[in-house]
Amino acid sequence: MAQLLMMVVATLVLMINVDGAPIPAQNLDYFHTTENCNLPKHAGKVKKFEFPTTLPMRKRRAAHLLDAEYVAKYEKAYELLRALPDLDGRSWKNQAHLHCLYCDDGLLYPNVTYPLEIHNGWFFLPWHRLFLYFHERILAKLIGDDTFALPFWNWDNQTPTPPYANVVPPMYSKNTSSLYDANRSPCAVSPNIVDFNLLIPGICSPRTPAKQRAENNGVMYTQLVTGAVTPELFFGSPYHLGDAGGLSPGTLETNPHGKVHFFVANPSDPNFGDMGNFANSSRDPTFYAHHANIDRLWKVWKKLPGGIRKDPESPDFLNSEFVFYDEEGDRVAAKVSQTLNTSLLRYSV
Ligand code: C2O
Repeated sequence: MAQLLMMVVATLVLMINVDGAPIPAQNLDYFHTTENCNLPKHAGKVKKFEFPTTLPMRKRRAAHLLDAEYVAKYEKAYELLRALPDLDGRSWKNQAHLHCLYCDDGLLYPNVTYPLEIHNGWFFLPWHRLFLYFHERILAKLIGDDTFALPFWNWDNQTPTPPYANVVPPMYSKNTSSLYDANRSPCAVSPNIVDFNLLIPGICSPRTPAKQRAENNGVMYTQLVTGAVTPELFFGSPYHLGDAGGLSPGTLETNPHGKVHFFVANPSDPNFGDMGNFANSSRDPTFYAHHANIDRLWKVWKKLPGGIRKDPESPDFLNSEFVFYDEEGDRVAAKVSQTLNTSLLRYSV
């Protein structure tokens, strides 16, 4: 009897083990994609990410509250990034290609049917946290300032007095700035308020500002509080190696994440501009400020009272690994488990 029980337990353990597997670090040269988002071939080996213990603690600030001194640094950093040659893995073009590979079904594993998909599921938050972390470190390195942190576009803040948080901050709309992108919706300029209920890109909100703010607040409350009471609802569907990914996005990913992309998307471009499609969205500096706010809201969600809002604890989530370019231009693999505490990444919001 005891033996039988042992066998049953052993079989169950085996079933649980084969049920899924974490996503192992990718070879970024082994891609499959209809988009042209390949990266320069890489000869060196892939480093393992280690926490930056000697970095100063960096503070991410709200984009509508920045001072002129910060904006000058921020613009300089993008100017230098845009000037890097295409052969440099850190370059502006390659930052976009990296996002394109991961976000637009660009990567395949040998013997796995479905391409890797990091949107529409539980890797959305940690993957983008890492992408931003390395992007920020590259910018910091270019301007030689380790205290540099990205700003966050505080679109969830509906305060009705200027400077407005829920409009595209004016520094992104100056066509002489390195923060500018011409491929945006004509509505995506101050004082037009972001519209979390936007159905079609390029339609400027027909509501009064007061009504739009109230609607946006309602969406935030549903997506972050009442609609996101479990990790699965907030993070989206679990995803293991070999699964067809992207089955179901979490609440925050759907909206406002998706709707803010939509708000900036260019309706007169066949691909909806940069922010309007996966392949090109990280060609717009607002992408990084937008995602810095998503990243911040992940922390806000975890602090909501009730004790039920936690990061997924599955080893398949925690041990999955993704590859980026670090500030030296080397490829580096980091684990989801390394994203969960931002103090260890040396930044706060
Ligand atoms: Cu990978 Cu907002 O997207």
